[in-house]
Amino acid sequence: MPEVALAPAVPSLAPSIDPSAAMISVEALRKSLRTGSTNVEILKGIDFRVAKGEFVAIMGASGSGKSTLLGLLAGLDNPTSGDVRLNGTAISYLQEDKLAQLRGRTIGFVFQSYQLIPTLTALENVLLPYELNDESGDRKAGLARATALLDSVGLSSRVDHYPVQLSGGEQQRVALARAFILKPPIVLADEPTGNLDTANGSAVLNLLLDLNRTEGTTLVLVTHDPALAAYAHRRITLRDGLVVSDERTASQEAQGA
Ligand SMILES: Nc1ncnc2c1ncn2[C@@H]1O[C@H](COP(=O)(O)OP(=O)(O)O)[C@@H](O)[C@H]1O
Ligand SMILES: [Mg+2]
Repeated sequence: MPEVALAPAVPSLAPSIDPSAAMISVEALRKSLRTGSTNVEILKGIDFRVAKGEFVAIMGASGSGKSTLLGLLAGLDNPTSGDVRLNGTAISYLQEDKLAQLRGRTIGFVFQSYQLIPTLTALENVLLPYELNDESGDRKAGLARATALLDSVGLSSRVDHYPVQLSGGEQQRVALARAFILKPPIVLADEPTGNLDTANGSAVLNLLLDLNRTEGTTLVLVTHDPALAAYAHRRITLRDGLVVSDERTASQEAQGA
């Protein structure tokens, strides 16, 4: 028997993005955790850049490090080494108040576990980032946008419901509407259609695509959903804490980008 063929080389089809033009830049990013006496390496050196207006799907098996990576991109967690830059600012060593300010203005984040405030209604949850960060003081405009966002994800009849009165899929859609309220330049979402049926999944997909196209929102989504990933411009796949492929999709090529 001849030798078994070697594993194929890692495809290197990633678009080359000028570092100064990158909306997100990840350099030699590592994350380890100590559990008891053992050191667990979760991310083992990740590098990529995302251009403004790009829509990137992060894929990979459960446990490959996707949620850890997304948390680091948002500055919700500190890397062991390496760096994350958002729109040119290195966030890993910013003081907490500066980081919170930057995060509030730059990122809409959708957690895998939604993280809604239980004592606030759906509408109040969506409005909260607006009330914390908007400087216009125009509450009426915020309310109108929150109402329109809840409508666009099919929740106009649930605005006054509390999270406990909502299904998992409904909570997920409230969390998405909340991530969009400030029209952030970057939206990071962890499996945003993970709990949705086909109809609601496509409502969420349409909302994401609409933001991406009309506002030029940079989207980085962790997803297992082939329907969602099919619309991404680029797919980055993780395995055991490393990028094993980073490639443009047909959807990107069709746009001639
Ligand atoms: N706080 C933690 N303590 C110990 N191990 C963790 C912790 N968070 C994540 N891990 C481990 O890191 C690996 C990657 O986790 P995660 O980023 O959640 O993966 P994914 O989102 O791709 O499923 C998993 O093996 C997970 O068990
Ligand atoms: Mg995860």
